[in-house]
Amino acid sequence: MNVLRVTGGTPLFGEVDVPGSKNAALALLSSVVLGSGQTILTNVPDVSDIHIKLRLLEQFGVRFSWHEGTLFIDTDNLEGWEADEERVRPIRTSFYLLGPLLARLGRIKLPAPGGCKIGARPVDLHLKGLQQMGARIELDSGVYMAEVDRFRGANIVLEVPSAGATQHLMSTATLADGVTVITNASIEPEVVTLAEYLIRLGARIEGAGTTTISIMGVNELGGGEFRVPADRLQAGTYLLAGAITRGSVTARGILPEHQAAVGSKLLEAGADVEVGPDWVRVSANKRLDAVKIKTMPYPGFPTDMQQPMTALLATANGTSFVEETIYESRSGHVSQLNRMGGSLDQKGNATLIEGVETLQGAYVEASDLRAGAALVLAGLAAEGETVVGNVHYIDRGYDDLEARLVSLGATIERTSDQESGTVLSG
Ligand code: EPZ
Repeated sequence: MNVLRVTGGTPLFGEVDVPGSKNAALALLSSVVLGSGQTILTNVPDVSDIHIKLRLLEQFGVRFSWHEGTLFIDTDNLEGWEADEERVRPIRTSFYLLGPLLARLGRIKLPAPGGCKIGARPVDLHLKGLQQMGARIELDSGVYMAEVDRFRGANIVLEVPSAGATQHLMSTATLADGVTVITNASIEPEVVTLAEYLIRLGARIEGAGTTTISIMGVNELGGGEFRVPADRLQAGTYLLAGAITRGSVTARGILPEHQAAVGSKLLEAGADVEVGPDWVRVSANKRLDAVKIKTMPYPGFPTDMQQPMTALLATANGTSFVEETIYESRSGHVSQLNRMGGSLDQKGNATLIEGVETLQGAYVEASDLRAGAALVLAGLAAEGETVVGNVHYIDRGYDDLEARLVSLGATIERTSDQESGTVLSG
């Protein structure tokens, strides 16, 4: 198995072009089957979650080809009605295909989404909304059996502004008979991107980016070309790499407003944050100060940056407090940072962090995608070498992380655990 070997202590300097967004691309791929004809997606990140999703789409007759980050997708010959467990379980957003496939095929058999280390992540709001729009759905031995004649418009009020449920129900409603209104909708940027894409295919959507979205159903959607926007979470991770190593990093080709919450906490901690039309630069030439973090839905502090930010606070001056309000168990990084000499005390969804002067290189294991990123950041700041195991988690959402970090001056390489003589608990 591969590991990442990180030699710390070098301040990072330079500019990084941020790749396309994993979460936005996954949302688009959940909806591409709503349209017929060809869809061309550019700036698609080369991450494993995307490849897994494409393999699942193939099972329903979707044909695709890659050419240098551009995905050519043909949904003219949709077929079949069931998906294999092994193609569905690896990624949660497989489930977000249910509504769009039902809208095109009328009946679907789809295994329930797999478990996740960061929380229970139920799909009750998705199911309730699809049923309100007329779907008949039964769960039988872990598999959803679903049917619909034609979806009909509905007034849906979400109990929590779930990004996934908003995306799933908004996209499905584009082919419904009548008007659907989603209240308490998520305003995460990926919802806005998905609406822009669906409108490009001919959908009629108003209010994406606000808490009330109206969708006027149409009879069919076509194809189109669409560029995946830059990944705000990969961008945030590179900016934190600049801060934690006391260097200066510029994330380019991004929407600066997506970094507002992270940027304001870095300013509070004593870093310099500069903003340009499509870039943000973070610089730090001294040890940063402790701050309080509370994760919230967008535009609050993103839960997906909580773990990388915690790695930064592990070396800050003073006592930090991190409260995770979105997921009940997004703390797999805490014990690993303590292995590196950190002083983190986790109770429930809160972590108290006594900042230490320096972390020590050690063998650590990623428990999930963002925990993996946090450990790489900690390794960049630590004394000596850190070996990060379970790299497959990082590959799910970071497009060639080590090459981009090396371009900023980092010493990081991917080797097999045999080469690094590391005994993985596996
Ligand atoms: C998306 O997940 C992202 N994933 C997550 O990023 C991100 O953490 C999350 O939004 C919040 O920003 C993708 O886009 C692929 P939710 P999603 O539905 O859609 C509860 C990463 O690191 N909920 O907004 O699953 C749920 O349990 C990943 O890239 C229900 O209770 O998020 C959670 O506590 C991790 N019932 C909260 O809402 C439901 O039916 C937010 O979930 C649906 C959700």
